[in-house]
Amino acid sequence: MIPEITVLISGRGSNMQSIHQACLHGTLKAAVTHVVSNTIDAAGLDYAKQHDIHTSVVPHQEFEKRSDFDTELIRTIQQHGNPDLILLAGFMRRLTPIFTTKFDGRLINIHPSLLPKYPGLDTHARALKSGDKWHGCSVHFVNEALDGGPLIARGIVPVLETDTESSLAARVLKAEHQLFPQIAQLVLHGGLACLDSHIKLNDTTLSSPLVYYYN
Ligand code: GRF
Repeated sequence: MIPEITVLISGRGSNMQSIHQACLHGTLKAAVTHVVSNTIDAAGLDYAKQHDIHTSVVPHQEFEKRSDFDTELIRTIQQHGNPDLILLAGFMRRLTPIFTTKFDGRLINIHPSLLPKYPGLDTHARALKSGDKWHGCSVHFVNEALDGGPLIARGIVPVLETDTESSLAARVLKAEHQLFPQIAQLVLHGGLACLDSHIKLNDTTLSSPLVYYYN
């Protein structure tokens, strides 16, 4: 059976699209079967509908407590099956342990910085302000910490002297679109897993995250 992926989004959904396209092209041997958004007007929902992917919306404003939102999110995901992987692709909500423990080992996020540098927002502006020569994106298993959890891989891009926030953001996003499907494939088919907060590749513990360079 082909592994099933649920993607959680909040907006544009370009990472969700790159995951879906990788599935269509066979570089990621899986199927995106469900896209869930916490905002009703997320543009990515249109792409999913156009490609006959089941969509759901769980508006976070309707829940007083984060844990209630997470419980409903779990129910919504499980109503449509039991995904092998849940990818957070621009999903702008912090999740509680109710959710992260439920899907422990199959919950992965992409973040536009070289973690642990710059968790949270405005990562490109922060990298430029710090005069960083290198910037990029990270893929990690998810726990309840903000952009926390065991780090799987970093996708590194150069910062050019001429870069503005938007030119740097575009270069990082291009790297994200390559890195995320690649790591999803490794988790589903390449023996990459998280055990006791350690990243293992075919049962060998990685001493440091995987590194990919993009330009
Ligand atoms: C990406 O940069 C992702 O890393 C971050 O939010 C952005 C979402 O972009 N978490 P998109 O919705 O995938 O286009």
